[in-house]
Amino acid sequence: MLHEELIHPSQNHSLEIAPRSKSPQVYMETFGCQMNEYDSELVRSLLKTQGFGFTDQSDQADVILLNTCAIRENAHNRVYGHLGKLKYHKKERGVVIGVLGCMAQNLKKELLESQPFIDVLVGPDGYRQLPSLLTKAMETQTRGLSVDLSEYETYEQILPERVGGVNAWIAVMRGCDNFCTFCVVPYTRGRERSRDPKGILEEAQGLAARGYRQITLLGQNVNSFQFERYDFAQLVTAVADIPGIERVRFMSPHPKDFPPALLDVVAQHPHVASQIHLPLQSGNDRVLDAMGRNYSQGDYRRLVDDIRRRGDIPLTTDIICGFCGESDAEYRDTYQLIEEMSYQAAYIFKYSERKNTIAAKKFPDDVAEATKHERVAELIDLQKNISLQKNQELIGQTVDVLIEGDAKKSSQQWMGHTESNITVVWDKSLQPSHPGEFLPILIEDASASTLFGRPLQSLPLS
Ligand code: 5AD
Ligand code: SF4
Repeated sequence: MLHEELIHPSQNHSLEIAPRSKSPQVYMETFGCQMNEYDSELVRSLLKTQGFGFTDQSDQADVILLNTCAIRENAHNRVYGHLGKLKYHKKERGVVIGVLGCMAQNLKKELLESQPFIDVLVGPDGYRQLPSLLTKAMETQTRGLSVDLSEYETYEQILPERVGGVNAWIAVMRGCDNFCTFCVVPYTRGRERSRDPKGILEEAQGLAARGYRQITLLGQNVNSFQFERYDFAQLVTAVADIPGIERVRFMSPHPKDFPPALLDVVAQHPHVASQIHLPLQSGNDRVLDAMGRNYSQGDYRRLVDDIRRRGDIPLTTDIICGFCGESDAEYRDTYQLIEEMSYQAAYIFKYSERKNTIAAKKFPDDVAEATKHERVAELIDLQKNISLQKNQELIGQTVDVLIEGDAKKSSQQWMGHTESNITVVWDKSLQPSHPGEFLPILIEDASASTLFGRPLQSLPLS
């Protein structure tokens, strides 16, 4: 892979970094999806093996890295907000600043021009170059770039540095060839390529041996994984067959890649979570066509029928409101389909035009901002009621929960997820337990996003 190097335009010799006696300390922040979290784990591993250390105090760091996301406008704006703050660290302490990930890839020119204090810019396929680019930036104030996309890079042989716990992510494929017209991913992460299953299975076995109980297989288009004649259904089965791995999930699939064998694995394998994320995006055929999704409302319904014929498999989805030219009647089709599908949860987004995408070049972004907001708010409301009703139906039932750690709101409570990925919270005092354990929890109360309950064999109340 090629990379360019430029002399930093704001090269400032008064900020030369003194020779170091200890390893340079890196502070890293990650924005965006699970794939970015995973990539940050890869970056940690790559940098640690090259003598870098990590700190969680930005004001003690010699290097500050932002691993960025470009998928929607708000992620993009958050990164720009953070960059503003980094100027201070640069000015006061001469810290080396690196921007990684999807924004680095998609907005390289704009970022380099508008943010002259950035020292290193590395896209998702360039992380192997990062240690040497940072070292050069520290030693010679040379601005470094690695923003070429690769057809082959899967970071094989690099074990991500995981923080530890119960759930681990494994990237099984990278990139996307679908070119949905609204989506920037094919431009920031390049062409689809799958890892050799041998490496994936070794990684999963190692994780099981270290106590991980749940594995989430990741990919931008995860179910199009294909390595020679080995397909995704085979991979999911093989990972779920590893002793010690109790639950396998995968994110994020495309509705076009659900052959019967994969649906059977999800429905039948005792260690594959019985739940599917099935991004719909829109319930209207003209909009789906303009989005380049390659399915109609009817195709999607048929797939859902196929899934539901196999059992009670909860579905979640992604929706975009206010895509180019979306009329009120077209939006209503989405509303009705959401009502009909009865999703467990839906992630609802306002369309935001992304630079370089097909939609940005072909269609005007012509739905008024206020209309987009109204539609998003109405769909969120609709889905909240559906989720609440579905969760309330679970009151009085017992669900198997994998304990993952402390609840967000209180360290006196445990948090875990049901097989269908609903968050469950309960008081720790009710039964001695530990993360990684499965507990049957009797559900006593429910909100739209969380179930509340007690372990079936709770200690008697004193
Ligand atoms: N605008 C709004 N939402 C988008 N998504 C992807 N690109 C855009 C965009 N330009 C949403 C899709 C996708 C999810 C990960 O993000 O719903 O499934
Ligand atoms: Fe983007 Fe479509 Fe690929 Fe998903 S399948 S990453 S939405 S282009």
